[in-house]
Amino acid sequence: MRLFVALEVPENVRRALAELIAKLRPAAPAARWVRAENIHVTLKFIGEVPPGQLDPIRGALSAMRLDAAVSIRFRGLGFFPNDRRPRVFWAGMDASENFAPLAASIEAALAPLGIPRESRPFTPHLTLARFPEPRPAPELLEAVAPLLDKEFGSATTSEFHLMESRLKPGGAQYTRLATFSFAPLRAQGE
Ligand code: 2AM
Repeated sequence: MRLFVALEVPENVRRALAELIAKLRPAAPAARWVRAENIHVTLKFIGEVPPGQLDPIRGALSAMRLDAAVSIRFRGLGFFPNDRRPRVFWAGMDASENFAPLAASIEAALAPLGIPRESRPFTPHLTLARFPEPRPAPELLEAVAPLLDKEFGSATTSEFHLMESRLKPGGAQYTRLATFSFAPLRAQGE
């Protein structure tokens, strides 16, 4: 099974991003735009594991504790690796200081189970579209230019989810396997 750990996005943010996608899609019809219900923040991509690993993974995730919830403002748009040869179009976020350490401790808790650590730095984002062929997308760049700093809402969250991804011809299907509460529902500094 193919697994990852993710934060959910509140409904108002999901709606704002769905509207944005509807507006931008005609500017890049060749891109694979995500379905609004699939939008999430990946904290850790686990990848393919045998079903016997599920319980140890759950055990490791259930031990995760922070002393405050994570606060996130969803803001900004951009491209990985860059806007000349885009592979991914994303919405960005400003997060409380405990957010990156949360991702790092999830990774540290899973490493002893043989789940490889990420070689790239953690860059939290919401993937909105993927480009099968990374080539310039001038119409999309033009449509995005006035929206580069746009805000999409905010969230305070004290739970993350273990998700399963099934790759289907029509796009990935995500199922929530378990939810873990990692902090009291109180933002950092409150
Ligand atoms: P993405 O949204 O940036 O594409 C489920 O597939 C989630 O895990 C997606 O959100 C995806 O990130 C992430 N993911 C998929 N494959 C990955 C990989 N090889 N390395 C890191 N993250 C990956």
